[in-house]
Amino acid sequence: MQIFLIGFMGAGKSSLGKKIASRLSVNFIDADRAIEKEQNRSVQQIFSEEGEEKFRAIETDWLKNLKEGNDVIALGGGTPCFNNNLSLIQQKGISIYIKTPVPVIVSRLKQAKEVRPIIEHVKKDHEALTALVADMLAQRESFYNQANIIFDGADVTSQSLDELERQIGSYLL
Ligand code: S3P
Repeated sequence: MQIFLIGFMGAGKSSLGKKIASRLSVNFIDADRAIEKEQNRSVQQIFSEEGEEKFRAIETDWLKNLKEGNDVIALGGGTPCFNNNLSLIQQKGISIYIKTPVPVIVSRLKQAKEVRPIIEHVKKDHEALTALVADMLAQRESFYNQANIIFDGADVTSQSLDELERQIGSYLL
């Protein structure tokens, strides 16, 4: 069974993904890192050399070619919102939307070392970053909200993880 974590950049998909995978004793896959390995270049390089549209095509191909297995997969923030990828995600496994409020996302993105091409131009301008995140999140939430499970990414506790594990379990029966 494949468990896909979806949600905005900085929502906490990768750190939560590692925690969930370890609780379930399955592999953790970070989609962006896997794409970078396959492409032998960074997401940032793909964007600057070939543009976003090409990155979206690479992302969709990666998802299509993903081998069946028992994995927790943190997808890129845009993955469920392009090329009908959401149907592919739903066919392949269960999805969890890591729902995190805009101010939490903004503060995480400001602190992150990773270069994210979509927000790089406003990263140092708090107001502009907040406006961009709020605007993009509003556009993307209709996709994210179609996940099987919605999980609060701002307040992660061992109790909330227990509850999430229980919810995941109900899909695996
Ligand atoms: C993107 C999110 C990034 C990465 C790329 C585009 C997006 O992944 O796939 O920079 O469009 O939201 P993270 O959500 O892991 O930062």
